[in-house]
Amino acid sequence: MTLRAVVTGVGHYLPERVVPNAEFEKTLDTSDEWIRARSGIENRHFAGEGDSTSSMAVAAATAALADAGRTAQDVDAIIVATSTADLTFPSSATMVQAGLGMTTGFAFDVQAVCAGFVYALANANALIASGQAKRVLVIGSETFSRIMDWTDRGTCVLFGDGAGALLLEAQEGTGTPADRGILATDLNSDGRHKDLLYVDGGSSTGTTGYLRMQGNQVFRHAVEKLAATAQTAMDRAGVTAEDVDWIVPHQANIRIIQGTAKKMNISMDRVVVTVQDHGNTSAASIPLALSVGKQRGQIKQGDLLVTEAIGGGLAWGAVVLRW
Ligand code: ACO
Repeated sequence: MTLRAVVTGVGHYLPERVVPNAEFEKTLDTSDEWIRARSGIENRHFAGEGDSTSSMAVAAATAALADAGRTAQDVDAIIVATSTADLTFPSSATMVQAGLGMTTGFAFDVQAVCAGFVYALANANALIASGQAKRVLVIGSETFSRIMDWTDRGTCVLFGDGAGALLLEAQEGTGTPADRGILATDLNSDGRHKDLLYVDGGSSTGTTGYLRMQGNQVFRHAVEKLAATAQTAMDRAGVTAEDVDWIVPHQANIRIIQGTAKKMNISMDRVVVTVQDHGNTSAASIPLALSVGKQRGQIKQGDLLVTEAIGGGLAWGAVVLRW
């Protein structure tokens, strides 16, 4: 018998305010045309006064629990992937635990920037496989609009806010790739590249800081590392590119998404793309794409999915799962 972490519910939350590219033309030397052509982004959502990383996470988790027909009392653990926690501590996850009215179990954050959701899924899978938890809420939630330097056109036009959540439940599988649930994971990081993408604040400065990125340098690493980690995870799962129904990539840039799909020999009609509507929502982008992909009727039970992401660290990884 193999214990599998199976997705039984999915949900998301997007703040009300939609910001089109044109809005940046008023304050920056940029254009809708440049942003679309270089990134594929058309709109993004920005958190309103009442929104926080934890409140958006609670909303997404509530939707995922409803989708699964479960309540918060059924959950053993909460993992929130975020780099924009409401406070330095306590964790966003404990705030979500309280927000959901959960008084048992345990909760913690995972910080791997844009790769955070993939890291969180791998952690949830390990908790379930080891018998530590039977039901785990895995949430990606970010308020990157609050760490933007609004004078830096190379970064502030790219990011957005939002949250997505999955409920994973332990189910017995056969140990073959035909099982539902997480089939394989692959995680990597290389701290030598810390200066390519970072926030210039924290305990060393006493400030929150702003995101700094050498976008073209990150780009150079992205396609190769994403295709390689996806291949490693597929090899571990015992599946090939032909078996894959959907790639659900981190939504940073349409050119990275297209380049990775091409390298994986998978056509774009098998890729869930939401970057045009959400921008880069960091750790929230994959669960948002999973939730929207299901709503659109793209992702169906039994489909074989590959998720892949890269972000600050650099940190990157992939998860193969059968929906
Ligand atoms: N409007 C107009 N021009 C701009 C803008 C803008 N908003 N931003 C930059 N430019 C200019 C640059 O100044 C540069 O001008 P120059 O040639 O006169 O110097 C020119 O456009 C080209 O800039 P590049 O940075 O080389 O453009 P590139 O094609 O690489 O696109 C982008 C930039 C969209 C940032 C891309 O590099 C990218 O998506 N990188 C990867 C981002 C990523 O995946 N990050 C990881 C996840 S994020 C995380 O972990 C938090």
